Amino acid sequence: MTFKVSLQSTGQRFVIEQHDSILDAAVRAGIALEYGCSNGNCGLCKARVVRGNVELLRPHDYIMSASEKACGTILMCSNTAASNLEIDASVAGAAREIAVQNIRTKVRKLTPVGDNLMLMQLQTPRSQRLRFLAGQYACLSVAGIASYDSAIASCPCDDMRLEFHIRRVADEPFSKYVFDCLKPGTFIEVEAPRGEFVLREDSKRPIILIAFDTGFAAIKSVLEHATAQDEERRAHLYWITCGADGHYLDNLCRSWADALDQFRYTPLSIKQDYDRLLTAREQGLQLVDEQLQRIVADYPDMSGHDVYMVAPDPLLAAGKNLLTEHGLPHARLMQEPVRGNRNVGCVIGGTAPASGG
Ligand code: FES
Repeated sequence: MTFKVSLQSTGQRFVIEQHDSILDAAVRAGIALEYGCSNGNCGLCKARVVRGNVELLRPHDYIMSASEKACGTILMCSNTAASNLEIDASVAGAAREIAVQNIRTKVRKLTPVGDNLMLMQLQTPRSQRLRFLAGQYACLSVAGIASYDSAIASCPCDDMRLEFHIRRVADEPFSKYVFDCLKPGTFIEVEAPRGEFVLREDSKRPIILIAFDTGFAAIKSVLEHATAQDEERRAHLYWITCGADGHYLDNLCRSWADALDQFRYTPLSIKQDYDRLLTAREQGLQLVDEQLQRIVADYPDMSGHDVYMVAPDPLLAAGKNLLTEHGLPHARLMQEPVRGNRNVGCVIGGTAPASGG
């Protein structure tokens, strides 16, 4: 049996299957509720039942005070719905409302894509899942190696399996370790969430997403969350890449385009590899600018859109100028530098890197 649950503060709704906890159902629906242990110890997932009935799934160690019980307070991780429900619960509306967590994760899966890109999936303990918003990043550390910032590529609706896209960068210790030494089962410390590049859930405007290279990771998280929240929202993804393993999840993007009526995907390629861009920065900036011009050719008036862009810093500046010239209000442009990918980050228009990979 399924029931509907609505949140009094935001009006968000989700569906809950019988025997699923209210917390698990909400997280799967991409709702950023406050929680911690997920097993009845910490009390962070407290909510007040405004209307309807709940059923205890399992006893919990957290002790509720008499006054909390009297006003209908429950633990969302330990209860399910026994009817349609309205609850009063704390929902993060902004990135800064979610505390940074330190979690010891385990490498679940490593999928190399070509020679220079690794898709890495980390598994959190069941009792310590990562609460984050789509688009945020994590600081990763392993085996005493200098920590490494990387965008979380997965959707917050799966808080136990975290995905990262790691590009090999010569002389960068973490990426070198990932390619040369890392094995499934290795522990990786995750400090997250970080960053304020997140989906604006208060907006219903169509979105344009612009990713450069592994900037696709943060964009993927935003897109998966946006479509989980509202399948009707129009979204157009432009993914600008260069190099042999350019659009490394091209099939995934095409499958979204096939499945979602409101989603469009345009892969854009630069006919240069990264090494060539390293040695020709002015030309590199020009080549990327040509791709941005194709986007504004599709959308000469951007005034009715929200734009999310993840790219190296010099491209963000170029993108901001171009997009705002085409009517995009500054407040509707959400930008984020490519995390971790220091080589590409300083390729175009920036300072010279030590070497390319
Ligand atoms: S999340 Fe800790 S008690 Fe529910």
